[in-house]
Amino acid sequence: MARLADKVAFITGGGGGIGRATAERFAEEGAKVVIAEIDKATGAAAAQSARERGGNNGGDAHFVHCDVREKSNVEAAFAETIRRYGKLDILHNNAGGSTPDDGPVTEVPEAEFWRAITLDLYGTFLCSKLGIPHLIKAGGGSIINMSSIVALKALPGRDCYTAAKGAIAALTRSMAVEYASHKIRVNAIAPGVVLTERVKKLLEGSKAIEKLAATHLLGLGLPIHIADMAVYLASDESVITTGQILSVDSGATVV
Ligand SMILES: NC(=O)c1ccc[n+]([C@@H]2O[C@H](COP(=O)([O-])OP(=O)(O)OC[C@H]3O[C@@H](n4cnc5c(N)ncnc54)[C@H](O)[C@@H]3O)[C@@H](O)[C@H]2O)c1
Repeated sequence: MARLADKVAFITGGGGGIGRATAERFAEEGAKVVIAEIDKATGAAAAQSARERGGNNGGDAHFVHCDVREKSNVEAAFAETIRRYGKLDILHNNAGGSTPDDGPVTEVPEAEFWRAITLDLYGTFLCSKLGIPHLIKAGGGSIINMSSIVALKALPGRDCYTAAKGAIAALTRSMAVEYASHKIRVNAIAPGVVLTERVKKLLEGSKAIEKLAATHLLGLGLPIHIADMAVYLASDESVITTGQILSVDSGATVV
């Protein structure tokens, strides 16, 4: 039996990188997946790919144009999810990521701080705020936040992104306690360096990320490695796993 049969999942930033790989894996495991993505072209393409992969197992996928920083967009995306698939079981707050504009607090433009906080942290907060009532109605479910190795180990030159991802780790723990009585579990994945198109470009321009990459004991991550952890967290296999920040980082936090 498919591991996510009869589940409905909502993935933010599911048009590219890790989010797209996760949408495809969820659909392969029988989930109905809503891809809430700001980029119309990649969102639609990812939904088509996930639909094709999920077809044999009862999986499906649907693209909804959504900026996770805009309340009206997020409300509309959840409404579309319920209209189309009837319920919500899995909320994956994945949209986010650092940029080459990040830096040490004394040097980085304030606009970059607010960009990271607004996209990564506020986006996670807002989708949780508006998504949790649907999870409660479904009788419980799984929230999968996206933190990062930078929440667990210092990475020079990424102070804004680090602040956002550290806050997401803390928020994950407090939400896990807050909503446990509704049978909602809340966890975060903390990837190391994962070779998405965005990160390949960051690697070219950053000695600090190159140095971090060199500490990955089993090689650099691929989107599928993170997607497979997300499948575990989304499935009933993780039924007593909550409040955890799960590193998928090739051992980079332990060396
Ligand atoms: N790739 C890595 O090495 C790595 C490491 C640690 C954590 N992460 C985290 O994993 C997540 C995914 O990273 P990725 O490398 O796949 O990034 P990516 O840039 O490849 O994909 C992010 C997706 O989010 C979408 N998006 C951006 N802003 C959005 C918005 N406002 N509303 C909706 N969608 C939006 C983008 O269009 C894109 O499709 C991020 O939260 C990132 O911080 C990635």
